[in-house]
Amino acid sequence: MILVAGGTGRLGTLVVARLAARGLEVRVLTRDPARARHLGGRATEIVVGDVRDRASLDAAMSGITTVVSAVHGFAGPGRVTPASVDRDGNANLVDSAEAAGADVVLLSVVGTSPESPMELFRAKFAAEEHLRASGVPWTIVRATAYVELWADIMTKPIVFGRGDNPINFVSVEDVAAVVERAVTDAGLRGMTLEVGGPDNMTFNELAALLQEVRGDHRKIRHVPRVVLRAMAPLNRQPRAGLAMDTIDMTFDAAAARQAFADLPMTDIHTALREASAHEQPA
Ligand SMILES: NC(=O)c1ccc[n+]([C@@H]2O[C@H](COP(=O)([O-])OP(=O)(O)OC[C@H]3O[C@@H](n4cnc5c(N)ncnc54)[C@H](OP(=O)(O)O)[C@@H]3O)[C@@H](O)[C@H]2O)c1
Repeated sequence: MILVAGGTGRLGTLVVARLAARGLEVRVLTRDPARARHLGGRATEIVVGDVRDRASLDAAMSGITTVVSAVHGFAGPGRVTPASVDRDGNANLVDSAEAAGADVVLLSVVGTSPESPMELFRAKFAAEEHLRASGVPWTIVRATAYVELWADIMTKPIVFGRGDNPINFVSVEDVAAVVERAVTDAGLRGMTLEVGGPDNMTFNELAALLQEVRGDHRKIRHVPRVVLRAMAPLNRQPRAGLAMDTIDMTFDAAAARQAFADLPMTDIHTALREASAHEQPA
């Protein structure tokens, strides 16, 4: 049985579906079973737990051979933070998996560093370090920014900052395919896989592309950096917006794909057209 923490989320939902389609049994960990309803019969079991509560993880671990961590605490319900979920919560998950004798596949981000201006990237760095130092057989999957998430965030043509910094975007569908491989191929233990898309694109370019795909002719507006700076001390999102507007977010995905060269690498146009086909009209 595979335990997917974060199995209710954007990536986790796709991973659960892929594992179930292979005939694998999947237990989904969630803080609220109502959030797992859309999974239907693809999840063999739903278990209530919180990565910040070690005892709830130990209770979810029986019969588990591999744990997937697709959680994050950047945003979302339940007063989450990168420190409590991505750093300390992942440490709990790894320790619980170790006690149960399970492997761990950890979702992380391209660009982790203890010095990153992004709190999330520092927390993911700590999670990776904890996992590597454990006795657990591990695979780390680092991804760039999910283009489908940004398509959802940018329902209005608004760009944070100047929007001229190139960023690597990846389709979450491609990341799910790599996670499925990481779960099912024990030959990938001890490896860090980096997944990106073929394109580095600025937010101005992404906003223009979204407008093209959606047939939207509204003027693109910007939240100026000065406004982001003023909001930054109180709020994680403008801090991240400022970082994404200024730090190197590019990535050479083709060079990183040797370990999974047969899996798809979807271009942004195709990913956005697919996502847009499923969007509800405003
Ligand atoms: N989004 C991106 O651009 C991006 C880029 C690179 C890497 N990643 C990584 O990919 C993974 C999935 O991201 P996503 O955007 O698909 O996530 P998402 O849709 O925002 O879902 C977040 C998930 O985290 C779970 N979660 C949050 N706090 C939790 C807690 N305290 N205990 C247990 N579960 C908790 C939520 O479960 P419940 O609410 O059901 O409890 C939910 O399933 C994450 O590890 C993320 O860091 C994301």
